[in-house]
Amino acid sequence: MLEKIKETASWIKNKMHTSPETAIILGTGLGSLVTEITDKYEISYEDIPNFPVSTVEGHSGKLIFGKLGEKDIMAMQGRFHYYEGYSMKEVTFPVRVMKELGIKTLFVSNASGGMNPDFEIGDLMIITDHINQFPEHPLRGKNLYGDRFPDMSEAYSKDLIAKAKSIAKEKGIRVVEGVYVGTQGPTFETPSEYKLFRIMGGDAVGMSTVPEVIVANHCKIKVFGMSIITDLGVEGKIVEVSHEDVQKAANAVQPLMTSIMRELINRS
Ligand code: HPA
Repeated sequence: MLEKIKETASWIKNKMHTSPETAIILGTGLGSLVTEITDKYEISYEDIPNFPVSTVEGHSGKLIFGKLGEKDIMAMQGRFHYYEGYSMKEVTFPVRVMKELGIKTLFVSNASGGMNPDFEIGDLMIITDHINQFPEHPLRGKNLYGDRFPDMSEAYSKDLIAKAKSIAKEKGIRVVEGVYVGTQGPTFETPSEYKLFRIMGGDAVGMSTVPEVIVANHCKIKVFGMSIITDLGVEGKIVEVSHEDVQKAANAVQPLMTSIMRELINRS
């Protein structure tokens, strides 16, 4: 596995003209950030040796290298979800490659269902911590590098959280903070499951992010994450939810998420 990671990283390095220390996983809410990347150089996942192959028809992702403002960055357009059938090793493979490429900070986004009764649809939640509810751990098996028992006491950088909050304040954008529960999906939660995750200490629940964040922490990459609350798992407010509802709610606040992230990346 380590050989594969190194092989992939050195293949990518040969094509790189820059040395970014910042990576972005363009999840829900950050899709339009792509249009702001300049001096772009793109590589399709299918061309990258050892990269997982996309399962969604006609939807191959790519790595994008370029500048966001003054900053050299690399971005992943398209991530691998466990519910699609990828193993945890595949879901997190790109993060390990990032480490080999010299990435020091990772920015992630996603959509989630809000369980905190103070949340509203369309809220932007700064992820302060997570609860891993995936059935398989990404670090299960032989320890490749780093600690066998990695510390997770600050999985999401406190410094970046503080900076993001002050940026939101300056811009007059309402943000909430909370704990993200990561589940395998692909079902949304039953009312009882939302209730359980709330009792556990979760503020929002979604189907991504946690595996990548665990691996980033394992290889000492700092993380900042934001989630768009696209539906509510709050007793009395639970209604039928579809992927389209999630997309619609996310699209509406995408510009706000993008504006906070852009500024945070520039200041980090
Ligand atoms: N549950 C799980 N994943 C989600 C949700 C949800 O309610 N909303 C958006 N992604």
